[in-house]
Amino acid sequence: MPFIGRDIHTAARLLKEGRLVAIPTETVYGLGADASNLDALKQLYALKGRPGNHPVIVHIRSVDQLSSWASHIPPLAERLANHFWPGPITMIFRKQPHVLAQVTGGQDTVAVRIPRHELTLALLEEFEGGLAAPSANKFGRLSPTSATAVANEFGGQVSYILDGGSCDVGIESTIIDLSTDVPRILRPGMVSQEMLTAVAEDIVFSSSPTTVRAPGTLKSHYSPSTPVQLATKDQIVDLVSAMKQDSQEAAVLSFQSPNGGETHWIVAECDPEGYARSLYTNLRNLDSLNCDRIIVEKVPEDDSWSGIRDRLERASYRED
Ligand code: TXA
Ligand code: MG
Repeated sequence: MPFIGRDIHTAARLLKEGRLVAIPTETVYGLGADASNLDALKQLYALKGRPGNHPVIVHIRSVDQLSSWASHIPPLAERLANHFWPGPITMIFRKQPHVLAQVTGGQDTVAVRIPRHELTLALLEEFEGGLAAPSANKFGRLSPTSATAVANEFGGQVSYILDGGSCDVGIESTIIDLSTDVPRILRPGMVSQEMLTAVAEDIVFSSSPTTVRAPGTLKSHYSPSTPVQLATKDQIVDLVSAMKQDSQEAAVLSFQSPNGGETHWIVAECDPEGYARSLYTNLRNLDSLNCDRIIVEKVPEDDSWSGIRDRLERASYRED
């Protein structure tokens, strides 16, 4: 049996046996486990190196399955589901009593989404249950956006990697908490606040800090090993030459082309969709150069870049 492949029957069987299977989604690859199987969930936490009290997202096939996980589905959720699912948004609900504490992090809420990826939807159809699937990376690291990146992260420690090609969206889903009266954006993503408001114009989405535990909201999350620094276009030139004088090497992700002979330089896409799609691959590639620092040009301030800004700020965060 190949370790990486497109065989959903194998993937479904392994999941039913309580094994871990990496799955493609439109955002990033997930590390999938049967969300109703305690042993499988324990393996998942152990492999990710994730603290046990951090909740995971349950991936389902269709809206009909939502009531198996959520005890209360507000009308807003139906509107958002009709508009955005399958797609890159996750909604948080009050949970059904049977939902395991290993899924919810011991809270009384559960996060659910329907991913937009043909292969994973077919897998979910065959598997029938819900799949707990955090991003398929070790805790605190960049999320993988290709099967190869998952294989590099976990090697043979997952039973199977379902290869669905490279991810279309490239950064993790937008998370909205609908478990209280005030809908809140817990993690920005490529479904932006404006896009949400366009569907639910009467709703104010608050993105104020919350007491709900969400590791994606830890300041230093999604980091390469090389320190990351954000800089304006003009600062980049000065930083690179100052580093050179100190015999240090910079790796750069910028909207501009290098003006000298810099080789460790990636020219980023100018539109947010293209930028997000290649962001983690770009950061991984720059990280693999083992330079002293990765310098990333700051991205625009508009709403459509908010998910990207959030990931870049986290990648560049350093405890002082
Ligand atoms: O795009 C995505 O969301 C990807 C793909 C694989 O679906 N998944 C993903 O999972 O990013 P993960 O585990 O890396 O991030 C999920 C985030 C975490 O920050 C987690 O704390 C939060 O969702 N979360 C899950 N359940 C929650 C809950 N009940 N309350 C608050 N936050 C929750
Ligand atoms: Mg993650």
